Amino acid sequence: MAKIKNIKGRQVFDSRGNPTVEAEIFLDDGLHASSIVPSGASTGTYEAFELRDKENKNYLGKSVFKAIDNINVLIAKSLKNTDINDQTKIDKILIELDGTEQKKKLGANAILAVSMASCKLAAIKKNVSLFKHLGNSKSNQLPIPLLNIINGGVHAKNNLDIQEFMIRPDKAKSFSEAMRMSFLVIQNLKSILDNTNVGDEGGFAPNLQNNEEAIKIIIKSIEMSGFKAGEDISICLDVAANELDKPKTIEYYTNLVKKFPIKSIEDPFTEDDWDSWRQLTKNTNIQIVGDDLFATNIKRLEKGIKNKSSNAILVKLNQIGTVSETLKVIKMAHDNGLKTIISHRSGDTEDTFIADLAVATNSSQIKTGSLARSERVAKYNRLLRIEEELGNSSKIAKF
Ligand code: PGA
Ligand code: ZN
Repeated sequence: MAKIKNIKGRQVFDSRGNPTVEAEIFLDDGLHASSIVPSGASTGTYEAFELRDKENKNYLGKSVFKAIDNINVLIAKSLKNTDINDQTKIDKILIELDGTEQKKKLGANAILAVSMASCKLAAIKKNVSLFKHLGNSKSNQLPIPLLNIINGGVHAKNNLDIQEFMIRPDKAKSFSEAMRMSFLVIQNLKSILDNTNVGDEGGFAPNLQNNEEAIKIIIKSIEMSGFKAGEDISICLDVAANELDKPKTIEYYTNLVKKFPIKSIEDPFTEDDWDSWRQLTKNTNIQIVGDDLFATNIKRLEKGIKNKSSNAILVKLNQIGTVSETLKVIKMAHDNGLKTIISHRSGDTEDTFIADLAVATNSSQIKTGSLARSERVAKYNRLLRIEEELGNSSKIAKF
């Protein structure tokens, strides 16, 4: 048994330059590992609580010193001498120590940093890669990436109200091939845009006439790259409807899907509009993805499965706050035929935990931004290394 000796929290910064939580865990034998939590901008009401020092104006109310203090004192004391290999026990202790539904006492940011760091340390102790530690002998499938190549909504200061315009290289035969295809489309898109400033997730953030113009430009870039839109590479949207000033209708989406090679729509409606979700999922045969709707929360997912609200779920560790709870949500989704898309946050970091999580859980897709900004690219680079490690046994998800 390898026992936890100490845990240290520290404040570091995320990709938007905002403070965030890092936790570092040390074992008796001197081994250690750390993890950093990301932070969203279009956050849902049902997400676990992110603890920030609202009254402390030194960081405009955004510092996380209380969360850090919770790690250094309460969490460190409660987990001292716990077996690093027993993730279920570690997460149970964290959940019970907090004791609230949305992890409001300790902060989900404090809890998740410790939960992820303990997984990494257990993998180091076993001397195996994180994806192997988290997964099983069948964890050899790379996810298809969804690359957010035009940013709008609250992730960019432009006039597009749809938050994410993504490409998904469906016909790629390997992960590296998926990245090559995406690279070409992004370079061609860059060559036809006047303004190549990027948004929070590394996608371009041009001012365009409307959402349809963004879709048309992406189709043009796919064709310029020698691919067929809708076959080799499809278009996926994240509307992030919670943030919309003017809601969109079921007809808007069914028409859009008829007109363009769109194969996936995330958060088309707000997080409590269960009826519209159900109707759209019934009326279309494309992927409908619940992000804010489910908030990686097993109770909300259960409701969504009963209601037939969607056929896929976006999975974000910090929406729920521990690795064990995240794994349970993924299992429930798969057991009920829903696809899982492991996701970054718009404020992310150099931590590549989600790349390993996607492979470990056989998730068919990963969403982690464009091929720009190192916090996004780091996840793709990690997946390339995993593909190399798996060698001949590696495959890529198929649709
Ligand atoms: P967020 O955006 O991290 O700002 O919530 C990502 C998403 O909506 O999928
Ligand atoms: Zn989303």
